Amino acid sequence: MERVKTGIPGFDDLVQGGIPKGASILVSGGTGCGKSIFAMQFIYNGAKQFNEPGLYVTLETNLKNLAWDMQNFNWDIKPLQDAGLMKIYRLNLGVSGDPANIEDQIEAELEVISAMVKELGAKRIVIDSTTAFGVWIREEGKLRGTLYKFVDALKDLDCTTLLTAEVRGDKHVMSAFGVEEFVADGVVALYFTPPFRSLFVRKMRGTNHSKKIHPLDISAQGLKVNPKDEIMWDAVK
Ligand SMILES: Nc1ncnc2c1ncn2[C@@H]1O[C@H](COP(=O)(O)OP(=O)(O)O)[C@@H](O)[C@H]1O
Ligand SMILES: [Mg+2]
Repeated sequence: MERVKTGIPGFDDLVQGGIPKGASILVSGGTGCGKSIFAMQFIYNGAKQFNEPGLYVTLETNLKNLAWDMQNFNWDIKPLQDAGLMKIYRLNLGVSGDPANIEDQIEAELEVISAMVKELGAKRIVIDSTTAFGVWIREEGKLRGTLYKFVDALKDLDCTTLLTAEVRGDKHVMSAFGVEEFVADGVVALYFTPPFRSLFVRKMRGTNHSKKIHPLDISAQGLKVNPKDEIMWDAVK
């Protein structure tokens, strides 16, 4: 099986060298657990180390925050953007138009994303975060249906896709609406039990992945996983 390396130190070793090519992976966790940094690193490393163009679709952070995060890690993204190796796109639903129209808007956004992927020749896509759809679609059944269609349409783009989902509460909960984990080929859970951070590969199709919870660290160098050490499940909240 062809694998796509995240380039995140320590992570690829946990999943037999990388994410299965073409898979959709969910990165879940509470706020501040490192989901966006994980996702950014996937796109940045793809462009910088592996020469694979990537599209980062953000639904929540304003673009200034995102740039600020990247500067924080000393990532110089301008040359990569200029070389057509990465692109950041802010998906903003519901600014104009009424909520009843949301399905049409999402349809239109999918067209935009699809055109960008083709133009860029993107191999990697990030959607950060899927939870933000809940701001625009209040009715749960409709939200599930819409998200399902959205994620399914992304599959046709032939990229390796990383979706983030913000979760609250119990450590067993992997996504806010439940739907994402059924459409995902893999689930990576991030935890922050102050002062310790950790990462757990819950699911990865076709992969003999690590079954352990591994320490995670975020520093000025970005996010890194310790594949050798293990944290006990009871110590994670
Ligand atoms: N340079 C840094 N050194 C240490 N920790 C950092 C650094 N930059 C960011 N962080 C940590 O990362 C967190 C943000 O991670 P982020 O990926 O945005 O979380 P989320 O899961 O909400 O998307 C910050 O709250 C902070 O704890
Ligand atoms: Mg985030």
